[in-house]
Amino acid sequence: MSTPSLLILPGDGIGPEVMAEVVRIIDWFGEKRGLKFDVTTALVGGAAYDKHGVPLSDETMAKAQEVDAVLLGAVGGPKYDVLDFSVKPERGLLRLRKEMDLFANLRPAQCFDALADFSSLKKDVVAGLDIMIVRELTSGIYFGEPRGIITEGNERVGINTQRYTESEIRRAAIAAFELAMKRNKKLCSMEKANVMESGILWRDVVTEVSADYPEVELSHMYADNGAMQLVRAPKQFDVIVTDNLFGDVLSDCAAMLTGSLGMLPSASLGAPMANGRPKAMYEPVHGSAPDIAGQGKANPIACILSFAMALRYSFDEGAEATRLEQSIENVLADGVRTADLLADEGVTPVSTSGMGDAILAALDASL
Ligand code: NAD
Ligand code: IPM
Ligand code: MN
Repeated sequence: MSTPSLLILPGDGIGPEVMAEVVRIIDWFGEKRGLKFDVTTALVGGAAYDKHGVPLSDETMAKAQEVDAVLLGAVGGPKYDVLDFSVKPERGLLRLRKEMDLFANLRPAQCFDALADFSSLKKDVVAGLDIMIVRELTSGIYFGEPRGIITEGNERVGINTQRYTESEIRRAAIAAFELAMKRNKKLCSMEKANVMESGILWRDVVTEVSADYPEVELSHMYADNGAMQLVRAPKQFDVIVTDNLFGDVLSDCAAMLTGSLGMLPSASLGAPMANGRPKAMYEPVHGSAPDIAGQGKANPIACILSFAMALRYSFDEGAEATRLEQSIENVLADGVRTADLLADEGVTPVSTSGMGDAILAALDASL
């Protein structure tokens, strides 16, 4: 097989800072494990707007369609708040998701043992937590029409539309059932079928799909209760499947179960390409963190774990993904902490690159 190709889009704010550490890890796998990648780097978000006047150029979009996987840092920042909606940094990210048709967004929330004390919840509530949120990513209220801000009488009206077709729900549900089969065969679907027709259809279609997965124990929950249950007793869940907006909110909520938003990776997957690999983009769940950008404080682990997901889901390198995840776990067990993970006074945090150094050393030690 030819050398696998990667498109790296560092983006804005802490995006380039955390991605620099991922690049060092990629280089390590090339040198030490013979895993070579053909890497292209390009602009996205505000950085692309500054250069090209758009948050994603057509050339970069075309490149994203052609490579084996895309790695994205983060987009956005206050500097771009004044821009017209159509060219805001976030539109670049949404265009990538939509045009690559990355309908299944896998957001694992795993609480590493060494961090069980760092969650804002009690240790026994989160210790050993390992859940997977499957967020539908290309439909729903993020993309539904009509949308916009119109004037009605003498006031403005903001409009967005929640819209789901059966097939959009079905393919997200199948992705979630497939994952559940590989995990603990337990799936909870979250919507608001009590108030939304799209929720009624969601529940119906997920139930239909369940007929093909008799081994999976399926439950349904209203998303507001789901948010409460995630905080009350998160270990009752294994795989959760939900729509685009609920998935956005619930995954940030799940992030805090793990200790920090700086820990959560994600994989956005689409249909298989001609080479059998899924269309894929990997990105941390967090954003560009303008409050700490440029200070070397960002935790690069979410972005590095996103590369581990790429190894597993795009490149069939599950053992190397585990090596990387285990190295991160070892570093945390040794007490290495970026500032977001500091609970104890008197512990000096490492910088973004300091965390990268520690993970590279742990990778070396794994050989
Ligand atoms: P954010 O995720 O950027 O930050 C929320 C809080 O978490 C901040 O206090 C930040 O310092 C902290 N944080 C986030 N990542 C961290 C890391 N790796 N290490 C340490 N601390 C970290 O969310 P926000 O402030 O609501 O949004 C900022 C910008 O990012 C906005 O423009 C938003 O649209 C954008 N955003 C982009 C993405 C993405 O590119 N995928 C995701 C979420 C938000
Ligand atoms: C995320 C982000 C994005 C979303 C934004 C930046 C478009 O919050 O990836 O979670 O809302 O999907
Ligand atoms: Mn989000």
